[in-house]
Amino acid sequence: MLDTAVLAINGGTPVRTEPLPLEFPGVHFMDEEEVEAVTAVVRSRSLFRYYGPAPRGEVKQFEQEMAAAFGVRRCIATGSGTGALHAALGALGVGPGQEVIVPAYSWISVAAAVVQRGGVPVVADIDDTFCLDPAAVERAITPHTAGIMLVHMSGAPGDAAAITEVAKRRGLWLLEDCAQCNGGSIGGKPVGSFGDMAIVSFQLNKNMTAGEGGVMLTSDERLYNRAFACHDLGYARNEAGRMILNDPEMTLWGLGCRMDEMRGALLRVQLRKRPRIVGAMRASKYRIRESLARFEEVQLRRVPDPAGDTGCFLITTYRDAARARWVSDALRAEGVRTAPGGVSNIVMTDWGLHLYSNWSGLERRVSIDGKGFPWTIPANAGLGGKVERGACPVADGLFERSILIAIPSNLTQRDEDDVIAAFAKVLGATA
Ligand SMILES: Cc1ncc(COP(=O)(O)O)c(C=O)c1O
Repeated sequence: MLDTAVLAINGGTPVRTEPLPLEFPGVHFMDEEEVEAVTAVVRSRSLFRYYGPAPRGEVKQFEQEMAAAFGVRRCIATGSGTGALHAALGALGVGPGQEVIVPAYSWISVAAAVVQRGGVPVVADIDDTFCLDPAAVERAITPHTAGIMLVHMSGAPGDAAAITEVAKRRGLWLLEDCAQCNGGSIGGKPVGSFGDMAIVSFQLNKNMTAGEGGVMLTSDERLYNRAFACHDLGYARNEAGRMILNDPEMTLWGLGCRMDEMRGALLRVQLRKRPRIVGAMRASKYRIRESLARFEEVQLRRVPDPAGDTGCFLITTYRDAARARWVSDALRAEGVRTAPGGVSNIVMTDWGLHLYSNWSGLERRVSIDGKGFPWTIPANAGLGGKVERGACPVADGLFERSILIAIPSNLTQRDEDDVIAAFAKVLGATA
């Protein structure tokens, strides 16, 4: 008989051998509804949002539905989350001479958008929410600081109330990046509705997806108009979709980053399914998370409001780097892993461009034009700080002591039972 008490990492029988499902939350809920929505657009042969043989207005309706879902007045759909970041920073007027505070745990596109605009990103440390630490934000503010980018990471909100308070008190704008937390909330208030502007991404890993895509959200009419011009051709458009060329306030430079009707139609379906997608992940995550409460050595990520967690990742933290690595390896041996192509169960130091210490372009101050721009221009003299490993000690410590486990939206009860059993076996065996 096989010995189930011996850890699989020591040659025992694993809890399971079948890989866990891949992440990609929105994908698991895709069915004929999305197929029909896209097909209807193709049949209309009107794939452009502003005109065509028989325009359906899918992107426009999607924008209205997203604004309502986030509790803001305005939404602009874009070709990607990165495009939304760039256009939003354009609307906010980011440029040379300005520092923008970005979190040590986020995504390279956040810092890249600042650099592309000629500004200087300043990396601030995180706390046990794995999002911006309000005290670190205060410390990072200088006379050059223009704004703060709060990134709600790995499915759960950051401390939006505290960061909003800092931004207001210090006269800074706040941009929320909800790419990884679409559908999240704090006390019933949607993330994305706290700051001056917000962005969302619909890339394949996100809670709703069309493969690629994004939106900008705001309740400020001026920012809306400027963001609109930035994402399009640099000019506002009238209700009929025609360009307004004679408004000086709206004469900017455009990115050509509009959303097409196929994605607009598909995302309208995904938005209707969002409560089910997020609800499934949250239920699975909290069932597993609650089973870990009895293990004293496991430190659980602080989530400002568990009811507003979108649930797509579980983060657990251990006493030191060696212990985290061992727990991850032991869980992997027990079968807590996905098929190749998924990111279930990794120590966070293996989490690539999410970690500030892997942003080599920022550390080496790589220039856009090969002549030093934006780093060496006079307006940016003396701006920015160090970004190599060690600059954000809390983040460094959390990354090496923490394990990230993806929670797919289609975990079965048996999958959850197996993850719970694997944790119990691994932690119980060596406690
Ligand atoms: C936090 C965060 N911001 C921005 C983006 C950029 O979104 P996209 O991939 O749609 O350009 C991502 C995406 O992957 C992200 O995780």
